[in-house]
Amino acid sequence: MIETRELNTYYGDSHILRGVDAQLPGATAVGLLGRNGMGKTTFIRTLMGYVRPASGQVLADGRNVTGWAPERMARLGIGYVPEGRGIFPNLSVRENLVMAARAGVDGRRDWTFERVMATFPRLSERLSHGGQQLSGGEQQMLSIGRALMTNPRLMILDEATEGLAPLVVAEIWRVIAEIRATGIATLIVDRDWRKVLHHTDRAMVMEKGLITLAGGSAELLAQPEALAQRLGV
Ligand SMILES: Nc1ncnc2c1ncn2[C@@H]1O[C@H](COP(=O)(O)OP(=O)(O)OP(=O)(O)O)[C@@H](O)[C@H]1O
Ligand SMILES: [Mg+2]
Repeated sequence: MIETRELNTYYGDSHILRGVDAQLPGATAVGLLGRNGMGKTTFIRTLMGYVRPASGQVLADGRNVTGWAPERMARLGIGYVPEGRGIFPNLSVRENLVMAARAGVDGRRDWTFERVMATFPRLSERLSHGGQQLSGGEQQMLSIGRALMTNPRLMILDEATEGLAPLVVAEIWRVIAEIRATGIATLIVDRDWRKVLHHTDRAMVMEKGLITLAGGSAELLAQPEALAQRLGV
């Protein structure tokens, strides 16, 4: 469904993405691993249209969508949960969710306000709280809830568990499993590479803006040395 070809992205003079070819097929969970600063977030930001690549292409169902604005990319059915969360701090939990609501590209409304409430009971107890009054874990849940309200075909989660307490982290992985089970494709970036491999069908390792290892997640789990060398773990 979403594919990149030879993506090259710069920040000023720094060449960050160095020809990234990646495939995000429909209904498939894909992990993106790599040490700090290797370009994972830059890849996502380029894919979503926040950053314009110097060369290369982003394709959606075979159509060239390179350079499309983020809002237009989102309307292709991509839900993005950015690193550092993307909620509106001055709006209530309910407002944050309701303003994000829309049908999916195929017209489906699988993810309703009620279903998001059922998925995140903690949010349902805090509907009138402002975004800034939430704990870190609750903000992350709200961010995921907002993305689900758009009924995406693909969910991108960039470090969704970062800085959260173990119980909240477990809760987020439970929701990631639920999202996967409903047939939504996912792109998951997380520091916990074992968890990523357990929750995905395929995975890629990025080093200095290049994919240097890719394959089935089960296959990669069986080669811990290759991973350790690339991830520095
Ligand atoms: N807005 C920016 N301007 C200039 N350089 C940037 C900017 N954002 C990131 N970089 C640099 O680009 C490189 C890739 O950063 P990026 O955030 O894509 O890495 P990452 O793999 O997501 O890392 P992390 O695991 O720490 O989130 C890093 O060297 C970073 O310092
Ligand atoms: Mg990052």
